[in-house]
Amino acid sequence: MNEYDMSTFWHWWVVVLTLANIAGIYWLIRWTAKKRPGEVAEGSETGHSWDGLSEFNNPLPRWWLYMFYFTIVFALIYLVLYPGLGRFAGMLGWHSGNMLNVEDSQYMQERQRAEERFGPIFAAMAEQPIPVLAEDSDALATGRRLYLNYCSTCHGSDARGASGFPNLANDFWQWGGTPSAIQTSIAQGRQANMPGFGDSLGEEGVEEVAHYVLQLSGRPDADEARAEAGQARYQMFCAGCHGQDGGGMEMLGAPALTENVWTYGGSLAAIKHTIEQGRAGVMPGFQELLGEERVHVLSAYIYSLNPD
Ligand code: HEC
Ligand code: HEC
Repeated sequence: MNEYDMSTFWHWWVVVLTLANIAGIYWLIRWTAKKRPGEVAEGSETGHSWDGLSEFNNPLPRWWLYMFYFTIVFALIYLVLYPGLGRFAGMLGWHSGNMLNVEDSQYMQERQRAEERFGPIFAAMAEQPIPVLAEDSDALATGRRLYLNYCSTCHGSDARGASGFPNLANDFWQWGGTPSAIQTSIAQGRQANMPGFGDSLGEEGVEEVAHYVLQLSGRPDADEARAEAGQARYQMFCAGCHGQDGGGMEMLGAPALTENVWTYGGSLAAIKHTIEQGRAGVMPGFQELLGEERVHVLSAYIYSLNPD
């Protein structure tokens, strides 16, 4: 008995669904390829026309149709040889092993081979300081591969971020842009915490502070009178974290509000939303998953996007 075992019910559930699907696809192909009564002759117009484009009754190209049949045959052969039909393990006895935790499984062997091959390379890279590594094209290529695997889902494949996920390719940092700050962000993760101020400020108060925030960023859409009214409230409620001059505080991850760079959007509505509801972005830590050496190489890659 192991985790891979499933109950008889789920076993048959998977088997029946899988086979019924394949049979269904076969039937669908046959059905769509069939001639219908009342159909016009092959190659002639059906009489349908859209914006002067008329439809002809042409059959699917043969090779195309055969490709569908081929995929069905392929699927059946695959399901005989490899696991796929519930508990049936396949005639080749192959398994990826990460579910079975078998030491000599293909998965473990591949892992070990990769470790033997890349281990010394990562160890050598980890000896180099991040700014040096950030000039090394091999290290950067490796860092970029790691980045695309582990980070791009949140920060984007170009590292320019998305709403709620900071841009890592500019020189604006919430938690610091020094090599060690970047490494800490990646290794330990970060947990931001800005409370909401909707209740303490009231609707008009939020509006006024928001205009003051716009003004701090030098935005032309800041309403002067409102901004002025917001300033005192800013000093009372916000300066403790974002600084008296709006310069931010890296220790808390409180971003500078003077650069007109926004993780959550720079529209008046987005800024009001932040002030009203607060924000609590979470960057997961990667030390455990990737190990110190890979985190080091990743840090060099991120640093290289923007050396200061
Ligand atoms: C307890 C500390 C703290 C206080 C007080 C605080 N903030 Fe924040 N603020 C933060 C942190 C931390 C973030 C980053 C949140 C995140 O990344 O999820 C943030 C984010 C923001 C953002 C979003 C910036 C962006 O990039 O989109 C704005 C705008 C903002 N704060 C304005 C204010 C205003 C205005 C006040 C006062 C009403 C205020 N904050 C009070 C800590 C604070
Ligand atoms: C699940 C989404 C997610 C993934 C995956 C993720 N991040 Fe993040 N990351 C975030 C969020 C959200 C923040 C901002 C946290 C906050 O609000 O302060 C962040 C912040 C950061 C920061 C700090 C930015 C600053 O301005 O100080 C760095 C550096 C960073 N991430 C690098 C990475 C790297 C490298 C990876 C891949 C190993 C990665 N992140 C993977 C969501 C993610």
